[in-house]
Amino acid sequence: MRLLVTGGAGFIGSEFVRRLLRADPSARVTVFDALTYSGVEANLASVAHCPGYRFVRGDVCDPGAVDEVMAGQDAVVHFAAESHVDRSIRGAGPFVRTNVTGTQVLLDAALRHRVGRFVQVSTDEVYGSIGEGSWTEEWPLTPNSPYSASKGAADLLALSYHRTHGLDVVVTRCTNNYGPHQFPEKVVPLFITRLLDGLTVPLYGDGRHIRDWLHVSDHCRGIELVLLSGRPGEVYHIGGGTELSNHKLTGLLLDAVGADWDRVVAVPDRKGHDLRYSLDDSKIREQLGYLPVVPFAEGLAATVDWYREHRHWWEPLRARSEQA
Ligand SMILES: NC(=O)c1ccc[n+]([C@@H]2O[C@H](COP(=O)([O-])OP(=O)(O)OC[C@H]3O[C@@H](n4cnc5c(N)ncnc54)[C@H](O)[C@@H]3O)[C@@H](O)[C@H]2O)c1
Repeated sequence: MRLLVTGGAGFIGSEFVRRLLRADPSARVTVFDALTYSGVEANLASVAHCPGYRFVRGDVCDPGAVDEVMAGQDAVVHFAAESHVDRSIRGAGPFVRTNVTGTQVLLDAALRHRVGRFVQVSTDEVYGSIGEGSWTEEWPLTPNSPYSASKGAADLLALSYHRTHGLDVVVTRCTNNYGPHQFPEKVVPLFITRLLDGLTVPLYGDGRHIRDWLHVSDHCRGIELVLLSGRPGEVYHIGGGTELSNHKLTGLLLDAVGADWDRVVAVPDRKGHDLRYSLDDSKIREQLGYLPVVPFAEGLAATVDWYREHRHWWEPLRARSEQA
């Protein structure tokens, strides 16, 4: 299978590509990535020697570049996105451009080149916020942030290409990911790197917001299952099973680096902050045999160790994040 991976230099996309090529170094994988502030080509250094690997720098909104890279592909896994909620609150333009227009450009090219399968990688945030219980795949989309609205729009576009044009589209929606190579503006690496540097960490509001955490390798295992065995036109949830308030998560991160609560500063709550996300992922478990395998405590400890040992990776990125 010749696979096109958009956004493969980012946190989750690079994990997906490393996993794939570690398992089969002869797999034919083209990474297409604009290398925005959150894209790091070095994330793929460990597989760059693989014979089937190719990196193409390009923008998913550029129809010419997308057309060229799409030719001859059998499947697409579409990770490329503007992905940080806080940035979408400061300015929605890049989110609409990359997440919505970029997805449309890719879908058109996939259709033109008769690509066999298009995996749209999405998020639980498209459902908004839920007080109790969990969302199933049939739940209506009621996103609250410009980020989640742009992802929801892209999901609907992708599904419309299945219904209208018969393109083989599958959508995955996942909970919050953590793990190595995550850009240090997101809460887990932001807190770890600041705590390692002896700095304070900002906790939104009273910290009661609840997220469901999943190790990035489990997310990628789920995407692989959907790529290979998902049913065309279907949505699949990929869940974590570790629901934690941000307050509890902060406590665990403080413990992991040996710091106290005096390093935590309460900051005004994020605008429109969703209180709780929760996915019912019984469909992918029952139909595709998905099971997350990384226990949260082990995954978090390994993640803290990774950031401790990879200061050379994140220090330059922190500066880049402040400038972007
Ligand atoms: N991080 C999470 O917890 C999470 C959870 C569920 C779903 N997702 C989804 O997974 C995907 C990947 O998220 P991530 O956390 O790895 O993000 P990331 O910000 O780490 O990576 C995004 C990648 O996309 C590339 N990119 C951005 N704009 C581009 C453009 N116009 N053209 C080509 N490439 C471009 C960047 O250079 C970067 O390599 C996103 O679609 C996101 O919505 C993320």
